[in-house]
Amino acid sequence: MEIRIEKTAAPKAKPADETKLGFGHIFTDHMFVMNYDTGEGWHDARIVPYGEISLSPAAMCLHYGQEIFEGLKAYRTADGSIQMFRPDENFKRMNVSAERMVIPPIDEAFVLEALKKLVDMEKDWVPHTDGASLYIRPFIFATDPYVGVRPADHYLFMIILSPSGAYYSTGLNPVKIYVEEKYVRAVRGGTGFAKTAANYAISLKGQDEAHNQDYEQVLWLDGVEQKYIEEVGSMNIFFVIDGEVITPQLTGSVLPGITRKSSIELCKKWGMKVTERRITIQEVAEAYDNGKLDEVFGTGTAAVISPVGHLKWGDKVMTINDNKIGEISQKLYDTMTGIQYGKLPDEMNWIVRV
Ligand code: COI
Repeated sequence: MEIRIEKTAAPKAKPADETKLGFGHIFTDHMFVMNYDTGEGWHDARIVPYGEISLSPAAMCLHYGQEIFEGLKAYRTADGSIQMFRPDENFKRMNVSAERMVIPPIDEAFVLEALKKLVDMEKDWVPHTDGASLYIRPFIFATDPYVGVRPADHYLFMIILSPSGAYYSTGLNPVKIYVEEKYVRAVRGGTGFAKTAANYAISLKGQDEAHNQDYEQVLWLDGVEQKYIEEVGSMNIFFVIDGEVITPQLTGSVLPGITRKSSIELCKKWGMKVTERRITIQEVAEAYDNGKLDEVFGTGTAAVISPVGHLKWGDKVMTINDNKIGEISQKLYDTMTGIQYGKLPDEMNWIVRV
């Protein structure tokens, strides 16, 4: 499929101070758009000026949330070239989410080429500052003007780009996480593994209550017994207990994170013991009491590697590793970002150049 290109006549000024980008507030000059209509398939691929879109007030995505999205980043290396981290994995996962949400699949190779073209056009927007990058948000949503409940016949696929800094305002400093016991994020057979808006909407109430207690995020427990640890919502979670790296296994209610997968692969490569299994919050608390909870960290595209300094479960507040970044978290952060920014060799073959 051809990609039509329409350049903006009014390019915007780039952010003057890259240390103040924040996350997800600023958008570049262009976006990728493609339509789907039943009978015709995906068509009319185009890169056009970034701007508002018009939707029917009855558009199905607004009523029943038939939507999926992805998140990945483009990085500027020291020699000025631009590269992405495992973008093929994002589009593969997008099709898994699409299947669950009855959204038509995309041609992964085609959208990767489209993304490269878009990022190349917007390469001047990729930040120069260490730790900052161009956050990439591909998404698909139902547009049929209809208020009945059924899979739609018309969709838009879009990619927008946002020069961004750290996801958490704390940067690489440890975050405070609160174990959610009242609400649940996902249940077996639900949509927890899919990257769909509903999973995030459902998390807001818990997050709001956590914020009121001065915690940044919540740690979700399983939706049935509320015993087993699942994920944080904006990131997957890892525990280092007595030297063993443990992360909840993918049971269908946890997002299969690409940074999660990469962290497991790196730890295994380094000869560490890594286990994907069910782990209860009780086990974590006991390990803490016995002085065996060495580290807790989250992994995510936006969050990268994010050490957890405080974990609150009911009345118990666990201060992990003296609220300092742990050895494994630091090594994973340095290696992951080293590969992403081209400072370390890409031995795992994860990098795709633009
Ligand atoms: C990402 O890490 O890219 C995500 O999509 C998570 C989101 C909460 C920013």
